[in-house]
Amino acid sequence: MYEGFSMAGKNALITGGTRGIGLAIAKGFLQSGANVTVASRKQENVDAAVSELGNPDQVLGVAAHVGKEEHRDRLIAAAEDRFGGIDVLVNNAGTNPFYGNIADSEKWAWDKTLDLNLTVPYVLSIALGNKMMANGGGSILNIASVAGLRASTNQGIYSVTKCALVMLTKVLARDMGHGGVRANAILPGLIKTELSRALWEDEDTLARVVKSAAAGRIGHIDELIGAAVFLSSEAGSYTSGAVIQVDGGMVI
Ligand SMILES: NC(=O)c1ccc[n+]([C@@H]2O[C@H](COP(=O)([O-])OP(=O)(O)OC[C@H]3O[C@@H](n4cnc5c(N)ncnc54)[C@H](OP(=O)(O)O)[C@@H]3O)[C@@H](O)[C@H]2O)c1
Repeated sequence: MYEGFSMAGKNALITGGTRGIGLAIAKGFLQSGANVTVASRKQENVDAAVSELGNPDQVLGVAAHVGKEEHRDRLIAAAEDRFGGIDVLVNNAGTNPFYGNIADSEKWAWDKTLDLNLTVPYVLSIALGNKMMANGGGSILNIASVAGLRASTNQGIYSVTKCALVMLTKVLARDMGHGGVRANAILPGLIKTELSRALWEDEDTLARVVKSAAAGRIGHIDELIGAAVFLSSEAGSYTSGAVIQVDGGMVI
């Protein structure tokens, strides 16, 4: 195996790392040698993820709502206490509480989606990015979406947040590059998870997505691991501000 993909000695923090895409990335990082902290709101999800990941010497699970400042502070302190610091941040936790025409949406949905999908990645990136720069560098990986590239049907507010998350990624890459911090984004297509259930359970939507992807199918969570390891390891040392679509080839 090419040594650049090794994550030995790296300490990663993955928000929403107890299920779906975040848990798959946690498994990939762990297999690549990293120490991994996974965080999500529900203790039972954290316990299940920690048990599934195994390797207790390299894994920490923390129950934390990353939208709450005191939870974020506790999460960061726990990861630093356990592993001595964080040099890989994956802003993965996301939400899409309103599915429908934006004309019918209410401000609570706007506020909630912007907070978790955009404000939380911003505050975590500033808090941990500054520490990474003080320690000689690190990597920030934002899980955006192909929904950020177009005004996706029934996902208007979500599209706005993911589009802005791509720009946040580029701004972080530009402004933290001098400190050795790289920032990149992965844009998944439709991946079968709890979050996307409304999409893949709807026959018309599923058929439309399958038709639009060159692969002719939707994706599996494990298919995000390769890009995440590349961007977060030395293999990606000259890659920053990059936006990688992992969408089965949605070229239309
Ligand atoms: N699935 C797709 O098709 C797709 C496509 C494009 C982009 N994405 C993006 O990929 C990311 C992961 O999505 P997914 O599909 O893997 O979702 P998922 O299977 O629903 O998993 C979401 C994870 O985030 C945690 N979480 C939710 N709210 C949280 C909060 N406030 N604080 C901390 N943790 C929280 C959940 O655990 P708890 O319930 O315990 O908090 C869970 O571990 C999201 O940013 C999503 O927008 C997904």
